[in-house]
Amino acid sequence: MAAHLSIEGLEHTYPVMIAPEALIAGLPEFVAKGKFSRAIVITNETIAPLYGQALAERLPDGGLITVPDGEQYKTLDTMRTLYDGLLANGADRGSVVIALGGGVVGDMAGFAAASFMRGIALVQAPTSLLAIVDSSLGGKVGVDLPQGKNLVGAFKDPLAVFADTSTLATLPEVEFRCGLAEAVKSALIGDPELLEHIEANGPQPVEWIIERAASVKIDLVQRDRLEGGPRAFLNLGHTFGHAVEQASHYAWRHGEAVALGTVAAARLSETLDLCGPGLAERVENVFRMLGLPVRYSGLTPEQIWGAMSHDKKWHGGAATFVLLEDVGSPVVRRGVAQTDVIDVLAGLREDT
Ligand SMILES: NC(=O)c1ccc[n+]([C@@H]2O[C@H](COP(=O)([O-])OP(=O)(O)OC[C@H]3O[C@@H](n4cnc5c(N)ncnc54)[C@H](O)[C@@H]3O)[C@@H](O)[C@H]2O)c1
Ligand SMILES: [Zn+2]
Repeated sequence: MAAHLSIEGLEHTYPVMIAPEALIAGLPEFVAKGKFSRAIVITNETIAPLYGQALAERLPDGGLITVPDGEQYKTLDTMRTLYDGLLANGADRGSVVIALGGGVVGDMAGFAAASFMRGIALVQAPTSLLAIVDSSLGGKVGVDLPQGKNLVGAFKDPLAVFADTSTLATLPEVEFRCGLAEAVKSALIGDPELLEHIEANGPQPVEWIIERAASVKIDLVQRDRLEGGPRAFLNLGHTFGHAVEQASHYAWRHGEAVALGTVAAARLSETLDLCGPGLAERVENVFRMLGLPVRYSGLTPEQIWGAMSHDKKWHGGAATFVLLEDVGSPVVRRGVAQTDVIDVLAGLREDT
């Protein structure tokens, strides 16, 4: 099953091809047509032997740059090695970067393409479920600083997104579940039918779930290209989630933290009477069914609150959350009381 979507980006409209074997059938042909001086695949140590080397060989004037695997390498130090690698590979203004990997590689390689020689061409080739349904779509690229996640970056439209669903065969189960967390998030903010489908059938068929979840994200980024309006809904569960990631020193994976954070957001929505009773339980049940965490231990609510109040999206310090009036009806709430947030967090803590 293949899906051909497209995104109206900041500068141009680009295709999103989601299909098995897209790395073999679609992407090399697309790059060959572009007549680039060099086509440099940027990937990590895990993906290089699986798909990176083979892809680089299939590209005209192909090269390969490999970075270490892990969020802890999504840094300015690694960016420096990417610029060195691009120069060593003979990249110039007429070259293209192919970002092959999960969201970490996509964000970093995308930022390299956005900044090297003031910007060169980019193709996103996401290989994790999370990157396919979320991070490769919408043009946000960047790296972390020690002070917080994604604090340096840019908007960079790729020329195309090629998501090869065959690569999911090698994705570790836990990473697959992390991608499902973002898919459920998208269902909660924009596709009630997708939520009902997952509740009834579990994560099958994955191609259909990918297409529906990707469509929610595409719709929101098109309505709000530079992020000042409805794109914020994509942050459902993320204010809580980022805080848990940060307070745990990234012991929590992003998708796992988003699952917990989304349960917290649903509970907060109930506490504030934004939605009727039962929504939080429904959200919790679907994450449980998918094997995602809905409770935490080893942190205090105050620690999580502390990490949250540094969130870069809290302009002026007012506690701001994406909450739910219902499935498919997200709202942004500013100025939420600290006590309400702490109470919700206390209710999700397991080791008290
Ligand atoms: N730019 C955006 O709009 C946006 C949106 C959401 C998340 N993000 C970012 O995305 C990142 C998380 O992405 P992620 O969950 O993909 O993490 P990741 O990139 O770390 O990938 C998870 C793990 O899976 C491995 N992997 C990926 N594809 C594989 C495959 N096909 N086979 C075997 N192993 C594979 C990776 O090497 C890694 O070890 C975070 O840094 C987050 O900030 C960005
Ligand atoms: Zn996310």
